[in-house]
Amino acid sequence: MIIRQFEPYDFEDVLNIEMEAFTEHNPFVYMNFYEMNKDGFFVASINNRVVGFVIGYRSAVTEGRVFSLAVKEEYKGRRIGSQLMQTILNAFQQQGLKSATLEVRTSNHIAKKLYQDMGFIACWVEHRYYSDGENAIIMKKQLSPLCWVNSIQASL
Ligand SMILES: CC(C)(COP(=O)(O)OP(=O)(O)OC[C@H]1O[C@@H](n2cnc3c(N)ncnc32)[C@H](O)[C@@H]1OP(=O)(O)O)[C@@H](O)C(=O)NCCC(=O)NCCS
Repeated sequence: MIIRQFEPYDFEDVLNIEMEAFTEHNPFVYMNFYEMNKDGFFVASINNRVVGFVIGYRSAVTEGRVFSLAVKEEYKGRRIGSQLMQTILNAFQQQGLKSATLEVRTSNHIAKKLYQDMGFIACWVEHRYYSDGENAIIMKKQLSPLCWVNSIQASL
């Protein structure tokens, strides 16, 4: 398995996974992300087929937002999702971002567990965030803790 940046020829595979994984769809968003935000769009590939993807972008001066993460059904449970998440977090750090944020459906226990295991903390609930009325949990993770310690020490 390799993780690499999204290329336009991955579009069909990504859309198929998106259709399988999510109930709300917006195919145009994916090409827009490629055009506007190449550095935050990664795919996991096995034998030249895309088996998962992650998208993230700078949402504030020091914060990155994980917009979407999904793995093809038959490849779930092989730590591909965790590796994709680590890839986008590394990209955020390389961009100098200090924190990452995301939202997750309250019923999505698998994703919540993955995010908690990777250091995300549930911060608050957005009521009726999704179009079907389900609430979202907003989760955040600090990046570069050493930088924070250094900057605190420097200000003492
Ligand atoms: C969430 C998702 C991306 C996880 O991808 P994955 O490659 O299966 O995840 P991993 O193999 O890296 O598993 C990481 C952790 O997720 C949890 N997990 C994964 N599959 C699980 C399952 N079937 N049951 C319970 N927990 C599970 C576990 O905590 C696991 O850690 P562990 O192996 O140490 O127990 C995948 O399930 C998916 O595409 N879901 C549909 C789309 C989605 O919900 N995206 C997130 C939107 S916010």
